[in-house]
Amino acid sequence: MHRTHTCGELRLEDNGTEVTLSGWVQKARDLGGMTFVDLRDRYGITQLVFNMETEAELCEKARKLGREYVIKVTGEVIERVSKNKKNPTGEIEIEVKTIEILNESKTPPFTIENETDGGDDLRMQYRYLDLRRKPVQKNIMLRHRVGMETRKYLDSVGFIDVETPYLIKSTPEGARDFVVPSRMNPGQFYALPQSPQTFKQLLMVSGFDRYYQIVKCFRDEDLRADRQPEFTQIDCEMAFVEQEDILNTFEGMVRHLFKVVLDVEIEDFPRMDYDDAMRLYGSDKPDVRFSMELCDMGEVTQNKGFGVFDSAETVLGIVVPGAADYTRKQLDKLTDWVKRPQIGAKGLIYCKMNEDGTTKSSVDKFFDEDARAAWAEKTGAKKGDLILVLSGDIDKTRKQLGELRLYMGSELGLRDPKVFKPLWVMDFPLLEWDEETERYHAMHHPFTSPKPDQLALIDTDPGKVKANAYDMVINGVEIGGGSIRIHDRELQARMFDLLGFSPEEAEAQFGFLMNAFQYGAPPHGGLALGFDRLCSMFGGSDSIRDFIAFPKNNSGRDMMIDAPSPIHDEQYSELELKSTHTPK
Ligand code: AMO
Repeated sequence: MHRTHTCGELRLEDNGTEVTLSGWVQKARDLGGMTFVDLRDRYGITQLVFNMETEAELCEKARKLGREYVIKVTGEVIERVSKNKKNPTGEIEIEVKTIEILNESKTPPFTIENETDGGDDLRMQYRYLDLRRKPVQKNIMLRHRVGMETRKYLDSVGFIDVETPYLIKSTPEGARDFVVPSRMNPGQFYALPQSPQTFKQLLMVSGFDRYYQIVKCFRDEDLRADRQPEFTQIDCEMAFVEQEDILNTFEGMVRHLFKVVLDVEIEDFPRMDYDDAMRLYGSDKPDVRFSMELCDMGEVTQNKGFGVFDSAETVLGIVVPGAADYTRKQLDKLTDWVKRPQIGAKGLIYCKMNEDGTTKSSVDKFFDEDARAAWAEKTGAKKGDLILVLSGDIDKTRKQLGELRLYMGSELGLRDPKVFKPLWVMDFPLLEWDEETERYHAMHHPFTSPKPDQLALIDTDPGKVKANAYDMVINGVEIGGGSIRIHDRELQARMFDLLGFSPEEAEAQFGFLMNAFQYGAPPHGGLALGFDRLCSMFGGSDSIRDFIAFPKNNSGRDMMIDAPSPIHDEQYSELELKSTHTPK
């Protein structure tokens, strides 16, 4: 028998019991007469003690133990003299009688403890060792729990888990496809799905009514902390529903997950129009844990002789509470921050509402005390507050000030990761004009339906049409998105036409879906939640990588298996592909 107990199990009540434990040596301390060893497994750490004045063979083995050796010991549970209250097993130790070394270990490249000395790259290269560390194991177990609870909830309300294929057809759905050459069909390629979107719609046509899948999706896009090239969605679809049914179902699911996983009650689940989100927060994924909303200051700033404001399409400000005492240095730092290429503002104007009732701005030459008082009135700034102002093109300025708002929220400690504020952002535009290609793109995807009362606008002013689309946003992160779909062939064809597809192209790419719509497609809609993002939100981290057992780095590489990698010449010829790459 390898063990009678785990390393996280034994307590003072077990005093005197003979036990067998197996695990990894986290640390061994040779104190001459005694050797102490911390034995670790998934469940915890138990201290072993070897009396070095007893049996020679036992002492010799104990002395040999290095970090990460795998051992099995038998001994007696005894009460510890110096107790460690921080460790659940810290009141006892095992007085070892026999030891078996099950496997030796090379010295690991970094310490496998809660805090490690290993850099990112090294930990990724030896991810299986990183995964031995408790904080990382905790994240992976949290993921397991969120997954199980999601399945339980969806099963309880009638959703059916159906697998959809991973080798599909390349289609435009926003990002680039990963493609896979077909040996049996030379010159032809599968694509890995960016999402199971069309398949889940077909399952509705088939009558499954409520589908879900916790499913891998693949997108060849630029990576960030919240983006991986392969990631997981909780993908769902429902038939015979309206938007309201979908919102209620998934609000219920997310409330359930917060309750069972974190014991957090979600109080409000407000809804906000896309237009309001952009106007008030400069973002379609507003962080509403704090207010600091964007204020249109045009009325009190334009046509007052200050050229920068006068020539701008818009002048917007935020009020930073209690920041009037910001020093010159701090304000310069903020100015540099907004001027970084990632933000792209030309400069930053400020106005301090001092505690003594005086005001001081960076543009006092153009705005006297009265004009500055008008700024305060317009924005609602009080004594002690700081107004920060940006101006320019409306879309850009909103975005820039939205970013500055988030930055200030973080600076002021208003973005507590233990506070959760979800909301639905609704009524997205159906289409988005792309300056580069000079055509419309679907803002969500081409299968999203326009709001029925706006159908007429499609022919006259397509850019103004609102969609039956919604995003779930929590703490400024887009956790999920979905829509009511088009289920009518004619409307779907019109949509492809608007997106610049010729009828032949639409037929070639999506003929299967449009055909299906001719055989009794029910009204349907759904959504997908980013599973990795949801887990990292529950775990209080910004990085989804920490919640994926074997993630890719920011260049899309798996450092452990060293992928992607070149393939052999034989593989090229088998696939009838030509290598254009000369190996270095
Ligand atoms: P969408 O493209 O909005 O919708 O994706 C749904 C959710 O998936 C997450 N997500 C990602 N997570 C990690 N890495 C990525 N690269 C990544 N890309 C997206 C986000 C996002 O909100 N088929 C539609 C859903 C539908 O209409 O039902 C879709 O895929 O949290």
